[in-house]
Amino acid sequence: MANVKCRMSNVEWRMSNKGRLRLGLAGTACAALLAVGACQRPAPQWLAYGRQCMVASDSAEASAAGLEMLEAGGNAIDAAAAVSFALGVTRPYSTGIGGGGFLIARTANGRVYVFDYRETAPAKARPDMYVRGDDGGPVAEHASRDGHLAVAVPGLVAGRRAVLEELGTLPWARTLQPAIRLARDGFLIDRHFTDAAEEALKRYRTDSSLTASCPYVYRTYLNGGELFPVGHRLRQPALAKLLEALASEGPGLMTRGRVAEAIEREMAAHGGVVRAADLRNYEVLRREPIGATYRGYDIITMPPPSSGGVAIAQTLNVLERFNLRAVRRRSQGRADHVIVEAFKHAFADRARHLADADFAPVPAALLTSKAYAGGLVIDEESAPQRPPGAYGTSQVSDDAGTSHYSIVDRWGNVVVGTETINTEFGSLAAVEEWGLVLNNEMDDFTSRPGEPNAYGLIQSDRNAPQPGKRPLSSMSPTIVLKKDKPVLMLGASGGPRIITSVLHVMINVLDYRMSLEDAMTAPRPHHQWQPDVLYFDQAPPDPLAVDLRSRGYEIADERKTGIVQAILRRLGGWAGASDPRKGGRPAGR
Ligand code: GLY
Repeated sequence: MANVKCRMSNVEWRMSNKGRLRLGLAGTACAALLAVGACQRPAPQWLAYGRQCMVASDSAEASAAGLEMLEAGGNAIDAAAAVSFALGVTRPYSTGIGGGGFLIARTANGRVYVFDYRETAPAKARPDMYVRGDDGGPVAEHASRDGHLAVAVPGLVAGRRAVLEELGTLPWARTLQPAIRLARDGFLIDRHFTDAAEEALKRYRTDSSLTASCPYVYRTYLNGGELFPVGHRLRQPALAKLLEALASEGPGLMTRGRVAEAIEREMAAHGGVVRAADLRNYEVLRREPIGATYRGYDIITMPPPSSGGVAIAQTLNVLERFNLRAVRRRSQGRADHVIVEAFKHAFADRARHLADADFAPVPAALLTSKAYAGGLVIDEESAPQRPPGAYGTSQVSDDAGTSHYSIVDRWGNVVVGTETINTEFGSLAAVEEWGLVLNNEMDDFTSRPGEPNAYGLIQSDRNAPQPGKRPLSSMSPTIVLKKDKPVLMLGASGGPRIITSVLHVMINVLDYRMSLEDAMTAPRPHHQWQPDVLYFDQAPPDPLAVDLRSRGYEIADERKTGIVQAILRRLGGWAGASDPRKGGRPAGR
């Protein structure tokens, strides 16, 4: 009985696959328990259930913005636009107009569209721009992360326009309305916001020159160093003005108009290299998705310049060799060990081979093949005492930033989008008059060869900055299909932890058949090959920690993880979950 969930609303789609008998038993058992008052556990606020449609994002206001579009007759693509613009207001440290992203849409007729509006290196970028200045002199250690030189050409507005023009049904201006209201009237900041502000404040404290060069973020979001308390109503009048201008004058404002000119002025005044011509020349790219199969499911996920899709496909191919449910029955530690070893192979290959495939050869077909996965060594018994070189193939190099949303509409269109300005409040640089916070996506390039980036990732020179190139990403919007029907839509924020968090929730649901609630809250392991340390988002239970240590893992004290937004098909509708770790709320009908 322990595994029978007592919420009828939590009887999810896979039970229907197992047959009516099982559902009937679960339902009968639940009804019996209800009768004796044992079924009282209410669903947490970060879970929602809907018959027709669902929006899961990391902000309650943004999810509500998406639902507003769906209720106004819009489709999932219209909802994605409203969610995205609203996230830029309520999670200004994660994403916004100064950033970029990836979006996968699968329309009700089964067609898949992949949009890449990732930030791009400007024309003046050089492979060694964070090692040597134009004059050959040294460059500040954090120049790829803090301040104007860290900014890459934003693509978010161009992306929104391309997606809406191709697949949307509501007018452009309509999708901006919720964001305009939120920026003008304000919203109440939560704990996650204050945590992000605290992280950003550390960067200002480390480099005192940032207060002068990046005053807007310092004043508006960090309150001049005296951080706002939880519950403070934050209004952003300059950003409201920008959103209103975008609504009335159209997206061209960002690429050719007053905003593009203001970005150039800001950059030129503070040593940044993005120019109005870069914004004018920015192109949204359409890509072919990475496809994979896993135990009868079809997976659609993001190709390079994301590393996420390749890593997800590679990891699943390796794990398919194991009966994970049976391994887990023997011990959780044994199952986690197998999963973590698969992560390590994938991250070793990420480090060596992944980059923008338009600029460097990326052996994606090899890395995502079942044959390649079949040759990667994982010893189910033994401790991981092998050297780093034993992972992946060498033959062929945390994030408060980033935000993911998953959406399904009543017609069966689904959208998964991940957008980012990279680390908290991006570069900290902003165009003050427009309330426009600028990304620091240049740090996702290999900015200093051999040195780890903000996420501790080592990357190859294939991922060095070059004009027009897109920095390697971990963003992994993913759709899982069963018999051609979408059953699980998910993605995450959190740098490299995006990949392992998405995989972990997938494994929990697809292999372990957990409810979405359990899948989201289970202790989440993360390993990225280098450093050779195993992370969890919460202290693992003692027996698990002891088991994993006995297998040779060093378990870090640091508790960071990805933040997942997921929608799972269930009988008669959808379950939506906004990862409780960031305080979001899904919204559905
Ligand atoms: N900036 C985080 C990522 O793209 O992976």
